[in-house]
Amino acid sequence: MDAAAIVERVKAIIAGEGDGRLQAVCELLKAEIDHYDWVGLYIVDAPGGLALGPYAGDATEHDRIAFGEGICGQAAQREETFVVPDVSKEDNYLSCSIRVKSEIVVPIMRDGGVIGEVDIDSHRIDPFTCADTELLESVARIIEPLI
Ligand code: SME
Repeated sequence: MDAAAIVERVKAIIAGEGDGRLQAVCELLKAEIDHYDWVGLYIVDAPGGLALGPYAGDATEHDRIAFGEGICGQAAQREETFVVPDVSKEDNYLSCSIRVKSEIVVPIMRDGGVIGEVDIDSHRIDPFTCADTELLESVARIIEPLI
């Protein structure tokens, strides 16, 4: 499936019904894109605090992350997409698995503030291009009403 088809599929999932829609979006992205090895959402559930939401991939110990902490917390603080091509070169990083080599985090915005994030881990070094940023920023806008 190309990016345009993935966006259409995400729209269709969100337009549907049921509690499993965000989970289905995570699973779709992980299944369709080879370099996405973990796909999850973090949700702002308190001022300056992110809680793990639906995800596809291995369980993670990082079920709560403060703004400013790790790649997720830095993206929340900066209010912009944060791409880390090689996590071994990032000091402020929360490791989930030694297999993870790179990460992209895209904030989900509402009314000018961060309400959540799309977080992708990859087992490859430097796999993310502007195509990933564009796709995931579209996905973030489409899923925003469900956050
Ligand atoms: N690596 C993230 C933590 C979350 S996991 O990738 C699931 C970080 O540094 O914020």
